Amino acid sequence: MAAKSIRRCGLSWRNEEVGAPMAARKLRELLETEDRSLSKLVDLLAELSLRIVREIPRTLGMTEGVNVYGEQQTELDVWSNGLLTKRLLRSGLVRQVASEEMETVMNADHGEYTVALDPLDGSSNIRTNNLMGTIVGIYHDKALPASGRDLLSALYFLYGPYVEAVVGVKSGVYLAAPAGRGTGAAKFISNGEPHRLPQKGSVYGIGGSRDKWTEKVREFANTLEMRKLKFRYGGSFVGDYNQVLCSGGFFAYPELLDAPDGKYRLQFESNPIGYITERAGGKASTGKGNILDVEPRSLSQRAPTYLGNKDLVSEFEELSSTTAGLFGNAKG
Ligand code: F6P
Ligand code: MN
Repeated sequence: MAAKSIRRCGLSWRNEEVGAPMAARKLRELLETEDRSLSKLVDLLAELSLRIVREIPRTLGMTEGVNVYGEQQTELDVWSNGLLTKRLLRSGLVRQVASEEMETVMNADHGEYTVALDPLDGSSNIRTNNLMGTIVGIYHDKALPASGRDLLSALYFLYGPYVEAVVGVKSGVYLAAPAGRGTGAAKFISNGEPHRLPQKGSVYGIGGSRDKWTEKVREFANTLEMRKLKFRYGGSFVGDYNQVLCSGGFFAYPELLDAPDGKYRLQFESNPIGYITERAGGKASTGKGNILDVEPRSLSQRAPTYLGNKDLVSEFEELSSTTAGLFGNAKG
């Protein structure tokens, strides 16, 4: 009996059970047709992502240090930040790097790109061996902080049972896994088709403690439950977001009663993932307007972040703009 193929989200290039098999494409080749020097940069990032994932089981401790946001840094936060910044600034491609783990930008003498990094998103998950990733925003010739509208490309690597590259460029979002031969982006294989959010969402996740959610967020979560979307939350942005990218739905780290700007850093988290969401046919909002249009004020600024299928995110925006709420019972 022939082995059954498993259909991975957006990565099914092998013998499909249903429909014609799709051609495997190397991520490097896909990107080269889009932009040759951007492809070189993604090549380097792809290589470094595989280096980071190899380091995870070897470097599990905490440091004494805290970052600008007062979060205690893991050894891996510091190590991956060092690796990425050093290699990017030495590449000749990148002129400026800003990172969630650094207070100020770092510059090189030349290079056409600027890069915003969350070197190890979800690093509090190291302890329990759960999902983490690296988030990257790429700009052409722009100083940081920059507006999400000016992103040339955004990508993340998800460190799960397999490493997955999710790369947003002008023509769409490509998903790839390091299942091929070669190095860097040549090792990452994609089906060559831009990935779109499924039209009907089936999962949702919302960060922050429930008792700190606003009434509007609670109300919206109730309507999602009533529509039978499944709640799924693991505590890493890339991991939780990837479920929505794959299955469709809604993901937010919302404004909280004691943190009106939520938790996510605009430059390093909300903008890159917002860009990917738009390119995949979804919507990225602060609850009041498009994330990518937020005026950049500082490297460390935060923004409430609502992402997912257009209809759901628009519905949340409408609900947040009403004073009464869906059931006419919101106080204030
Ligand atoms: O970078 C912040 C982060 O680690 C995200 O990856 C994750 O979504 C969030 O924090 C988890 O926050 P909380 O612990 O409040 O659920
Ligand atoms: Mn993060």
